[in-house]
Amino acid sequence: MPAAGSTSSSRDGLGLPAAVLAGLGTCLPVTEIHNADLVALLDTTDEWIRSRTGIAARRRAGDEVSMRDLACEAGANALRSAGLETVGGVVLATTTPDRPCPAGAPEIAHRLGLGQVPAFDVAAVCSGFVYAAAVAAGLITSGVVDSVLVVASELYSRIIDPMDRGTAVIFGDGAGAVVLRRGTAAEQGALLAFDLGADGSGHDLIHVPGEREQPDGPRWFSMAGRKVYLRAVEQMAASTSRVLKDCGWSPEAVGALVPHQANGRIIQAVAERLGVPPGNAVCEIARVGNTSAASIPLALAAALATGQLAPGARTVLTAFGGGLSWGSAALTWPQLRAVHSEF
Ligand code: COA
Repeated sequence: MPAAGSTSSSRDGLGLPAAVLAGLGTCLPVTEIHNADLVALLDTTDEWIRSRTGIAARRRAGDEVSMRDLACEAGANALRSAGLETVGGVVLATTTPDRPCPAGAPEIAHRLGLGQVPAFDVAAVCSGFVYAAAVAAGLITSGVVDSVLVVASELYSRIIDPMDRGTAVIFGDGAGAVVLRRGTAAEQGALLAFDLGADGSGHDLIHVPGEREQPDGPRWFSMAGRKVYLRAVEQMAASTSRVLKDCGWSPEAVGALVPHQANGRIIQAVAERLGVPPGNAVCEIARVGNTSAASIPLALAAALATGQLAPGARTVLTAFGGGLSWGSAALTWPQLRAVHSEF
C-alpha cells in the first residue's frame, strides 16, 4: 500500500508487459571547472567543497551550446547503445529549458530523425529522470507506443549565480538518456516498480523566481541547502523502501543503489538508513557535480564503466528535488554497452 501522498506500482507477474531498458547514452560538455577555479572567485575552499559535497569538478557548457544540443547528443548515443534508429516517442526531463515555449522534446525528435512521434517535456527538477521514465513506461505498458527515448538534459550554468558559493560549487551541466522498449517483466532490464511523490508545501525550498516574483534584476536558482538535505535523505530512503517492498527485495540484496547525485553525504546517509551495503551505493558526483535530472543516467554510465553495475544486479534508482518531488524505480540490470560523447 503506497504511503499517503505517494504512488507506487509494480509489475508483480513476470509475464506482464513491462518497459525494458535497452540503451544508455550520455553527453558532457568538454570544459571542466575544478574546485581550484572556484576558490579563485568565491569565499570557499577545496576542502569545504570536497568534505561537504564530495565534488572535485563539474562541467560547464560554452555559451554557444544549448540544452537541446546536449540532449540530442545523449539521445543519439542512447539510440546507438540500443542499436535502434527509431522509437515511438520522446520524453525530455529538464529544469533548464532553452526557452519557455515550446517543449524541447519535439525538436529533439526532429533532429534525431525520429519522425512525427509523440514528444513532450516533464518538469520535476532533480526527480525529472525518474518521473520521465515512469511516464514513458506507462505509455509503453498501456500500448500507446512500443518504445520511448527518455532524455534528461540540464544546463544549470544558465540559472546559477556564479557568485553564490552555496550553489555555484555544486551544480554542473550534462545530459543522459535511455531507450525503453516493450518487453516482459521476466526480462533483465525490465522496470519492475516505480514510486513517485511530491510535497508542494516545500515549493519555495528550491526555486527560480518568475518575472512577477522578481521583476528587477537577475532571477537565479536558490536552494535552502540544509532543509533540503534533511528532506532528501528522508524521502529517498522512504521511496526506495516502497519499491523494495513492491519487488520483495531486501536492502542487503540491492547490488546497485543509484541515487540522484546531489551530495556524497546524502548518498551515504540514504544507503545507511536503508541498510544497503555502503559499497553498493553509486557515488559518481566527484567528476561532474550535481547535474539535476541528468545525474542518474550519468551515474549509471559511470558505474557501468567501473564495473560497479553488472548484468543481473538488482538496481534501484532514487531521486529527490524541487517541488518538492521524489521518485524511485527498480530493475535488474541488463546486458548493455553505454555510449558517451563530449561536446
Ligand atoms: N564554501 C564555504 N562555506 C560555505 C559554502 C561554500 N561553498 N557554502 C555554504 N557555506 C557555509 C554556510 O554559509 C554556512 O556558514 P555559517 O555556519 O557561518 O552560516 C556553513 O557553510 C554551513 O552551511 P550549511 O548550508 O549548513 O552546510 P551543509 O553542510 O548543509 O552543506 C549543502 C550545504 C548545500 C552542500 C548541503 O546542504 C546540501 O547538499 N543540500 C541538499 C542538496 C540537495 O539534496 N538537493 C536536492 C535537489 S538538487
